[in-house]
Amino acid sequence: MNESCDDHNEQTLYERIGGKQAIDGLIDGFYTRVIEDEELAPFFKNTSIEKLRSMQKEFFTVALGGESSYSGRPLSYVHHGLGIKPRHFQRYVELLDATLVSFNLSDDDHREIISRINTYVDEIVGAGGGMDG
Ligand code: HEM
Repeated sequence: MNESCDDHNEQTLYERIGGKQAIDGLIDGFYTRVIEDEELAPFFKNTSIEKLRSMQKEFFTVALGGESSYSGRPLSYVHHGLGIKPRHFQRYVELLDATLVSFNLSDDDHREIISRINTYVDEIVGAGGGMDG
């Protein structure tokens, strides 16, 4: 029991969620919710969702400790001028939270993923100008 707990602790969050296959499923499910969400959809109306999903898969892989690299643009640059407010960010995280429920994660791992994503708030929110939404 304890031995397997030690092994468990050495795995990255990326491995614990289930690796590449799980990240693919997570981002596909999450972005389906995002682009169908009344409040968030308008932000994405001129965006290639295909490309966004693929960038997000890289980003989440890296953020959860998987071995990959993120080839997209810096987050503050990409979100600059979109007018994303704290409530949009909050909604985004709520949808991520709802998507994570269908994954086989411990409560700790679930919370850890949410808190890692929350650390990017300053790069996403309030980067000036843009929509009044
Ligand atoms: C921690 C939260 C977030 C992360 C990690 C994140 C990450 C990303 C990434 C990796 C990209 C692709 C970058 C690229 O194409 O080079 C992107 C694009 C984008 N994100 Fe986010 N995002 C977050 C929150 C949000 C929120 C809350 C919104 C809107 C309410 C949003 C709207 C967009 C839009 C519209 C694009 C496309 C921009 C473009 O095509 O020029 N993001 N995001």
